[in-house]
Amino acid sequence: KCPFGGDRIGGALGNRPTLENWYPHRLRVEVLHQNGPAADPLGPDFDYAAEFAKIDFEALKRDIKQFLTSSVDWWPSDYGNYGPQMIRMAWHSAGTYRIADGRGGAGTGLQRFAPISSWWDNGNTDKSRRLLQPIKHKYGNALSWADLMVLTGNCALEIMGLPTYGFAAGRLDAWEADNATYWGPEVVEMGSVSSFDDMVNRDKRWRGKNGDADYDLENPLAASHQALIYVNPEGPYASGDPLASARDIRITFTRMAMNNEETVALIAGGHAFGKSHGMVPAKEIGPPPEMAPMEAMGLGWHNPKGTGAGKDTMTNGIEGSWTPDPTQWDNAYLENLFKFEWEQTKSPAGALQWTPKDPDAPRTPDAHVAGQMHPLMMMTSDIALKVDPDYRKVCEKFLNDFDAFTHAFSKAWYKLTHRDMGPKHRYLGPEVVIEDGLLWQDPLPERDYGLVGAAEIAALKQAIAATGLSVSDLAFTAFSAASTYRDSDKRGGANGGRLALAPQKDWAVNRRATPVVEALRGVMATFNGGRSDGKKISLADLIVLGGCVAVEKAARDAGVETPVPFTPGRVDTTQALTDVEMFEWLRPVVDGFRNYVDDGFGQMTRSVSPEEMFLDKANLLTLTAPEWTVLTGGLRALNANHDGSNRGVLTDRVGVLTTDFFRNLTDVDLVWEKADSDGMTFALKDRASGQTKFEATRSDLVFGSNAQLRSIADAYAGSDGQRRFVADFVKAWDKIMMLDRFDVKGHRRYG
Ligand code: HEM
Repeated sequence: KCPFGGDRIGGALGNRPTLENWYPHRLRVEVLHQNGPAADPLGPDFDYAAEFAKIDFEALKRDIKQFLTSSVDWWPSDYGNYGPQMIRMAWHSAGTYRIADGRGGAGTGLQRFAPISSWWDNGNTDKSRRLLQPIKHKYGNALSWADLMVLTGNCALEIMGLPTYGFAAGRLDAWEADNATYWGPEVVEMGSVSSFDDMVNRDKRWRGKNGDADYDLENPLAASHQALIYVNPEGPYASGDPLASARDIRITFTRMAMNNEETVALIAGGHAFGKSHGMVPAKEIGPPPEMAPMEAMGLGWHNPKGTGAGKDTMTNGIEGSWTPDPTQWDNAYLENLFKFEWEQTKSPAGALQWTPKDPDAPRTPDAHVAGQMHPLMMMTSDIALKVDPDYRKVCEKFLNDFDAFTHAFSKAWYKLTHRDMGPKHRYLGPEVVIEDGLLWQDPLPERDYGLVGAAEIAALKQAIAATGLSVSDLAFTAFSAASTYRDSDKRGGANGGRLALAPQKDWAVNRRATPVVEALRGVMATFNGGRSDGKKISLADLIVLGGCVAVEKAARDAGVETPVPFTPGRVDTTQALTDVEMFEWLRPVVDGFRNYVDDGFGQMTRSVSPEEMFLDKANLLTLTAPEWTVLTGGLRALNANHDGSNRGVLTDRVGVLTTDFFRNLTDVDLVWEKADSDGMTFALKDRASGQTKFEATRSDLVFGSNAQLRSIADAYAGSDGQRRFVADFVKAWDKIMMLDRFDVKGHRRYG
């Protein structure tokens, strides 16, 4: 008889193999449901702004600063000051940000979760966060981990003499690991790879067969290697080549939207503080937090030498400090970098680093042993700033003008740590800096006129209807404006009216909106010109209101009378307040909602399919799978295709909010065939007659081919689907229109 009763020793929930192992190429629709209310212990009504406002901010900063100059036995502070390691923690929290898709960054405290928590480059940041645990507990949920990490970085800079530029709270913590962000093609992490794997991986992430001419990093990545924040400090593939390092630094920092001056300010500024740790060969260090034994309680990288901390610390492998006074803001980093010639040497852990040739160069004190001195250290990535001609120019400027350096560093630090926070309405606390000069904040002017009320809105709706603009055109335009939003860094959206400004007005995908915007401008001019009560309407609001007019009519024509919510208050910004280059990153390469695939997409890597890009977009818009499905079905019924083509418009009643898209897509009497050799477009034929009824793209068919999406399509295609469809579409539509309205939404995570 089996000795186990009711046993399941063969496996439990989540054990491998799972779907992922069996069908690695399936579309992972479920990633849309990550980090939802079910994972959040604080619940959907938790109002972070209200809770944060109760904190005595000055007392909080005092607590942090007091802690920074303390030391505990299990992880003693270097030089009696935790500041430097906290700056590195904050920088690594923010430094994962990349402008291409806005993902990464300090915004949700993802450093607490794998994979980021366990990246080799984040070595011992687990200790930094654990050291902060008492402060986190003291202030509880009124202070998110994400905010605490950045604020601690600021406090550290302040106690060591850097006047910081500002601080805004308002980051809402994630409550589970990000299971979907693409961090690179490698399947092994740095630190656990053989050099052969390294060689293989090199070619996947980096392109360029013709030397520097076409040397580039795969988009959207912004790090030179898996498990790094930016670049390998020892130079690309530990080559010790400073020029090659400079090339990689420029590519990766540009991907984070930093220019040459900001890049130098950040690296030279950051390395004015603290030290690198390399007392033990990497292979002797234990596994990272995510792989560590249970009793380690979430801490990783066990170091077997001595106490494993203090003077024996091993983090990255390079050993030493850049300056003689590593807890003081000064210009010694740049002074010594330029004053001395540097030669390559090795750390106790065997890592490649640089030391001054001159034996009389200043030395730096040991971080733990009083009276012991060491030679200064530079990394290959530091020497890079000296050998690269453009970085060198910036260094020379900062060398001659310490105040300019100080200002540039504090400003760049503010940008680094606040880049992904979105509109100013999300900024909390007494140290917020909002300046129109900070273009990266995508500034919106203050509204200096009265808001329209119900009567004016009704009149404006009539005026829009009287323009004769079609339902399709109005819906397309409103959706085009609002759907630039991406929740990753909270940029884009309809507010600001940027659809009418460069670069958006010039995007091929938006071309159809040009005459609509012009007509709406006319409505605006008439309305604003003819009033004496101080009320005005913005173009941004009118574009959205046009969408309401369209959707209400389309629903009415389908037999459902429903109001489409409209919340006025959007403002129009200006071209001067729009960073064209940085907005260009929001241009969609594939936009399934508007059935758009960029001309260049075919020449790009085909490692990504249009439907995967569509899923990515749905995720950036925070849509659930049902919302994604209902929106697409509705947009096809309205024909919001970028070119007005009938692809995916599976209806004879265009502009009417019917469920025809779903009914035809799931009709068993119809059959789909490829319409091109690439499998990008398809023809829908009648099984019996062989006649082509409709054409469609991958962004249409995915709602019939993918089992999860097809189930949702079925829910609308059925005999009882029409009312639900209209109601759900209107709700999802309003959600898209309101995604960027933090001015009315506040600091709740959902909705
Ligand atoms: C330490 C690399 C940019 C701030 C380190 C360490 C490495 C490193 C390898 C040693 C970690 C350890 O063993 O403890 C790099 C590279 C950079 C870069 C390759 C870019 C090319 C920055 C930036 C900042 C910064 C932009 C902040 C603005 C710091 C600080 C430390 C440090 C404060 C000292 C940490 C401590 O004392 O524990 N960096 N870094 N670094 N880095 Fe960077």
